[in-house]
Amino acid sequence: MTDRYNREIDYIRISITDRCNLRCKYCMPEEVPFIPHERILRYEEILRIVKILAKLGIRKVKLTGGEPLVRRGCDSLIREIKQIEGIDMVTLTTNGVLLEEMLPQLQEAGVDAINVSLDTRNRARYLEVTGKDMYEQVERGIEAVYKSGIPLKINCVPVQGVNIDEIPDFFTWAKEKQIAVRFIEMMPIGYGDQYEAFSAEQIKEMFFARYPEAYQVKEILGNGPAVYYRAPGFAGEIGIIGAVHEKFCSTCNRIRLTSEGFFKLCLYSGAGIDLRQMLRDGSTDEEIADAIADAIQRKPKEHHFGEVQAESSVDASASGEADTRKM
Ligand code: GTP
Ligand code: 5AD
Ligand code: SF4
Repeated sequence: MTDRYNREIDYIRISITDRCNLRCKYCMPEEVPFIPHERILRYEEILRIVKILAKLGIRKVKLTGGEPLVRRGCDSLIREIKQIEGIDMVTLTTNGVLLEEMLPQLQEAGVDAINVSLDTRNRARYLEVTGKDMYEQVERGIEAVYKSGIPLKINCVPVQGVNIDEIPDFFTWAKEKQIAVRFIEMMPIGYGDQYEAFSAEQIKEMFFARYPEAYQVKEILGNGPAVYYRAPGFAGEIGIIGAVHEKFCSTCNRIRLTSEGFFKLCLYSGAGIDLRQMLRDGSTDEEIADAIADAIQRKPKEHHFGEVQAESSVDASASGEADTRKM
């Protein structure tokens, strides 16, 4: 599927739940009322959409949340998506809390790669950032994935006054282990606008100051947004996702499905279609496919996070769900 800016759209991010077992300050600091079950897509509905999308050219599926592993049967969903003709990769982005206990099932289901969000490796600080004393559990989950050989990436959001002092230790992690440690620019959506982000440029400067012989990795790793760097002697690599300042919109390959079945064309924009309505009002697969193909042609050219913050936060929540939970 190609959009009107000639971008090949082959990747969908599916949020399978709005719920999360952590309360990260910049994402969902308070207990928010959960979306009632009947408004959340059932697994059969998600599968039906993925089958339609696969016929339209989607090849890669990322399951996200909230926290995807809190939804029961997530492993069966992975297994079933993997069986859909045309789908090459099913990956997961998780906070890691349930990873250790669920890894055998996930592995059995055939998950192709796992990204774990981890902003600090200090137990007390983890409690402060996420509201839960789960750090050691997450580390064990990460270790288990590492040992399993499933490709692993760590996602860290650097924030002024929170975890900047730990960035060199995150670099060392990538030096010692064969993992991709990625730094994501905080985006001004959700509660993210209340924090001072550390930019992609700043991370890069910090990395090159410590490892002057570092170089950019040429091969393409993963689904696109990160630029990867290695330094001599590194087992893994670091990745930088300049979500705000070095936007990757011109090569954007992704669309999204919220847990409520809203098909979103861009993280920034509220534009999209209510697929749940179509799924439940008797629309045929052809009608749904036509609606999706038509919507893809309206995919926005780019985001404007850095420019109009107030508008972006209004826009990003326009699908009716709190926004940062659908990254
Ligand atoms: P892989 O490379 O396969 O791991 O995929 P990914 O990087 O797309 O996956 P992940 O779920 O780990 O996403 C990493 C981060 O990229 C998210 O947490 C967001 O902060 C950011 N991101 C994802 N999609 C978008 C997008 O459409 N626009 C922008 N600006 N940022 C995004
Ligand atoms: N900006 C950037 N990343 C964010 N995440 C959550 N909120 C934001 C934000 N405002 C990250 C989480 C996790 C990933 C799924 O999204 O830390 O790594
Ligand atoms: Fe949960 Fe991720 Fe939000 Fe933290 S950032 S509260 S782990 S969804």
